[in-house]
Amino acid sequence: MTPNADRLGADWQTLSTFRHPSLPGWTRRPFTAPYAAARAWLAERMREAGLSVSVDAGGNLIGIKRGRDPSLSRIMLGSHTDTVVGGGRFDGMVGVLAAIEVARCLREQPLRHTLEIVDFLAEEPTDFGISTIGSRAIAGALTSEMLARRSAEGTLAEAIASVGGQPDRLGAARSDIAHYLELHIEQGPVLESEGLHLGIVTGITGIARFRITLRGRPDHAGTMPMAMRRDALAGGSSIVLALEELWRDGAGVGTVGRVRVEPNATNVVPGEVELWAEMRSTDPATLRERANAFADTAERIGRDRELHMEVQPLSYESPVPIADEMQAALAAVVEALGHQPRRLPSYAGHDANQMAKIAPVGMLFVPSRAGRSHCPEEWTDLADVALGTQALGEAVLRLDASLG
Ligand code: GLV
Ligand code: MN
Ligand code: MN
Repeated sequence: MTPNADRLGADWQTLSTFRHPSLPGWTRRPFTAPYAAARAWLAERMREAGLSVSVDAGGNLIGIKRGRDPSLSRIMLGSHTDTVVGGGRFDGMVGVLAAIEVARCLREQPLRHTLEIVDFLAEEPTDFGISTIGSRAIAGALTSEMLARRSAEGTLAEAIASVGGQPDRLGAARSDIAHYLELHIEQGPVLESEGLHLGIVTGITGIARFRITLRGRPDHAGTMPMAMRRDALAGGSSIVLALEELWRDGAGVGTVGRVRVEPNATNVVPGEVELWAEMRSTDPATLRERANAFADTAERIGRDRELHMEVQPLSYESPVPIADEMQAALAAVVEALGHQPRRLPSYAGHDANQMAKIAPVGMLFVPSRAGRSHCPEEWTDLADVALGTQALGEAVLRLDASLG
């Protein structure tokens, strides 16, 4: 299977143009006009590739190529086209465009299995406090509590309906998927530093996320003596540093990436602060212990400073090991293409985290320049994207031939 690198590059160029005009980088947030326009364009590309296109109940854009044997379970390829604020042009997009290119290359070639190409809804964190929304829906992991969560615009259920989903029709987890494969950029420096072009993911990090609200008391920043203040931001800052300390040993990572301060005025003691914190580890026991330790530490800091505290767990995803057989199957493909099958873990989360709940998953990585990602400078050479697409396509052909 030989992907058309020029066609893939042209698609990538066009998809990058759908972005928010007044936000930094290549921002395309879910449930916005640029996201809807990008998906309408993607649906057209899927139709051109001969796929039948629909939006499922969870708001995922899906293109289907029917297999010769309808009794067989399906092979699914996918990724996402939403970005973080100030994000780049490769994270997620590469996997969706590659999957469409695979379908184009296999257009005239009948497969035994039905092939599904998915642009999952909202993979990145949202104001609803969860990420991987569309793949959660497919995995039966989108709970009614999650659907009722609110952003400034309304509930998650309403947001899913706004992109053509049917949140009241979310069924149980899908049971018709034989294998899920995803091509993604590495988002780290390993492949580039070793001069390699393809990676095979051995496992995906777990992620624990919290929202912490601290309420103190807004006061005049000149007249209220230091000893009499209840400064919510000073308390929040201690929590940020405690999280950094908790992960200093390198057993994983911890970050507070989002903060809201009220009233956010130079001469007012901060009265209320909201922190969005996350931590990641590939070791399940470490992640569980540290998530609990973090929640306890935050509570203690709040108590010591006489702040009113709410520590709200937003999501907890366990680390996902990738089966040896799947790693070996992808390694065989990479070797057949004349490349070294470097195996490495993923510290980024992916839709594959959700899909692993219902099907065997496999992931291929292509290198990221200087390991940069979630920033406008994110870059992967288009030749590597084409190579990754070829590996993805070859993997589909092998699975199609070998799976019962
Ligand atoms: C997804 O991009 C994540 O790892 O947060
Ligand atoms: Mn991302
Ligand atoms: Mn991604």
